[in-house]
Amino acid sequence: MFPIDLSHKKALVFGVANQSSIAWAICQSLHRAGVRLGIVYQNERLRSRAERLTKDMEGSLLLQCDVTSEEEIEGVFQKAGEEFGSLDYLVHSIAFAHRDDLGGDFSSLSRDGFRDALEISAYSLIPLVRNASGLMTDGGSVVTMTFNGSERVYPGYNVMGIAKAALENEVRQLAAEYGPRNIRVNAIYAGPLETLAGRGITGFRDMRRMHAESAPLKRNITHREVGDTALYLCSNLSSGVTGAVIPVDAGYHIMAV
Ligand SMILES: NC(=O)c1ccc[n+]([C@@H]2O[C@H](COP(=O)([O-])OP(=O)(O)OC[C@H]3O[C@@H](n4cnc5c(N)ncnc54)[C@H](O)[C@@H]3O)[C@@H](O)[C@H]2O)c1
Repeated sequence: MFPIDLSHKKALVFGVANQSSIAWAICQSLHRAGVRLGIVYQNERLRSRAERLTKDMEGSLLLQCDVTSEEEIEGVFQKAGEEFGSLDYLVHSIAFAHRDDLGGDFSSLSRDGFRDALEISAYSLIPLVRNASGLMTDGGSVVTMTFNGSERVYPGYNVMGIAKAALENEVRQLAAEYGPRNIRVNAIYAGPLETLAGRGITGFRDMRRMHAESAPLKRNITHREVGDTALYLCSNLSSGVTGAVIPVDAGYHIMAV
């Protein structure tokens, strides 16, 4: 038997683009524990891939939502409410920046580039949690994805560093606001993983090499390790944890070089 049984629980997972998406790894870990999933992809272009990925996930619900649209956000939670009745977990695994803003001089960042990256990568957590909380009638757990570029300068990470700093602050403010309702809000800080978003960062390969060389575990992390940490953060094993940023980086963050 799988060691964690969450077969009566329901989750909405935002950010599945393909089989390499961290959101997909999280779906798989939650699915192994028996969680019923609402899997959310961004737009029509991604629909058929999402359908292929999820066809064997019995009982799962496939939904479309672009987080720049308040209407689409409300629509997704309305459908989740109709189908699930209530919600236990929310996973936010979404980020966007214009390609030009993930490389070159940080100071050349445009006003629009700043706005788009911050709106999609950071602001979006707030309406998602607000809407989810209405369905989390028996407490809940929210997990979002961040990176150590929120605190340290990684060449190429540029505007996404600001977005992750904002996102981590939101985690603390949302954890404080929703804690009295037993809704916990945490972030996973993942080491670099080969994904669509990851490969968009200038110098991503070097980042992976540096992590593998310097991390105490002398390797890069796996998608599964992030998925299983999300499972821990959703489950009652982490019932005393909220407002935290949990590093899943093979220990890279403790090293000076
Ligand atoms: N890959 C890494 O190395 C790494 C490391 C740490 C944190 N993260 C974070 O993990 C999260 C997931 O990224 P990933 O690496 O799995 O890449 P990914 O490209 O698979 O996922 C990014 C997701 O964001 C979605 N998205 C972008 N704009 C959107 C919008 N307007 N509305 C709705 N969805 C939108 C995309 O459709 C995609 O599903 C991101 O927050 C990313 O910053 C990634």
